[in-house]
Amino acid sequence: MNAAALPPPAPTSVRREASPSRSAANPSETEAQLLAEVVELIGGDLAACERIYADELASAHPAVRDVRDHVARYRGKRLRPILTLLAGAACGEVNDKHRTLAAVVEMVHAATLVHDDVLDGADVRRHVATVHSRWNPRTAVLFGDFLFTHAFHLAATVDAAACRAIGAATNAVCEGELTQIHERGNADLTEAEYFAIVGGKTAALTAVSAELGAVHAGADEATVEALRSYGEDLGVAFQIADDLLDLVGEEGCVGKSLGSDLSEKKLTLPLIRLRDRLPEGESQQLKTLLADPPADARERLLPLLQRTGALESAVATARERAAAAVARLDELPDSDAKRLLVRLARFSVRRTF
Ligand code: IPE
Ligand code: IPE
Ligand code: MG
Ligand code: MG
Repeated sequence: MNAAALPPPAPTSVRREASPSRSAANPSETEAQLLAEVVELIGGDLAACERIYADELASAHPAVRDVRDHVARYRGKRLRPILTLLAGAACGEVNDKHRTLAAVVEMVHAATLVHDDVLDGADVRRHVATVHSRWNPRTAVLFGDFLFTHAFHLAATVDAAACRAIGAATNAVCEGELTQIHERGNADLTEAEYFAIVGGKTAALTAVSAELGAVHAGADEATVEALRSYGEDLGVAFQIADDLLDLVGEEGCVGKSLGSDLSEKKLTLPLIRLRDRLPEGESQQLKTLLADPPADARERLLPLLQRTGALESAVATARERAAAAVARLDELPDSDAKRLLVRLARFSVRRTF
């Protein structure tokens, strides 16, 4: 992916519409192919994980079931459970603990998304209305809580160590999101501060997802650490790509509200790089625009991001982190699962949804 290849922003009226289905999103063939190969290798385990997920969320209360069924209508990429299962397969054999933990990490992820969409004022997620826009923020807060508590209720069936590891990762996610909220409107945010936020809100969960796959396949300490670092690097690359999509992606394709980083005054890597590349006067103008972003801020910023190379440079950093993730797997024996982990790391940068 390079800046020239990034999809141009669609007119606002188009971007605000959700595409009716995932098939309409038409992800590039490579993405579809990668996911198909993942399903070929671990499809049975993923299906088991989904059954565990659904069983855990069983409820006799219609008020709960309505929201749960709405959220279940569209599933995401299932990146985190895939990481747990592939890491397990790459380090040994996939077992029931992997399947359960795969469901746990996806549940924590789903909880963070339900809450994140309240924080970001986002109306569309996974091509459908977000919980707070379909119901109200109170329902979204409580349903997110419901997912969090079920995640730990389920993790407790594995062991205390898994609960601790997932608890530590979830703590880091919350700290990352809280820090990001705290830094809203800070046009002087540094790259180090940005990476600390991303390390918490995104990479902590991808790291523990891969780590637990290795742990429960009986991997030695060095291998567990390698998988953990792999998940962390992949998570950072993935979030940089997500931040690029927020600025230059197309909503109908990505399937969620975009532009919220700007409207919520959250400085992301491409904008930090732009600010630091512009001459003093223009940099000040940018800060003024970021302090009170107009409706067309996204369209106005795109040519600047391209001209200064800020976009390219953020893409390059994401690629470097994906390459670092791949390098973490050097010592693992060759296997289909390892090859898919390598391709997943590269996909995290190229993704268009
Ligand atoms: C979205 O995660 C939140 C980020 C960390 C950027 P995903 O892009 O993995 O969301 P789904 O699960 O596929 O919908
Ligand atoms: C990711 O941040 C949210 C979490 C990791 C909890 P974003 O706010 O960028 O995620 P999207 O873009 O809404 O999916
Ligand atoms: Mg968001
Ligand atoms: Mg985002």
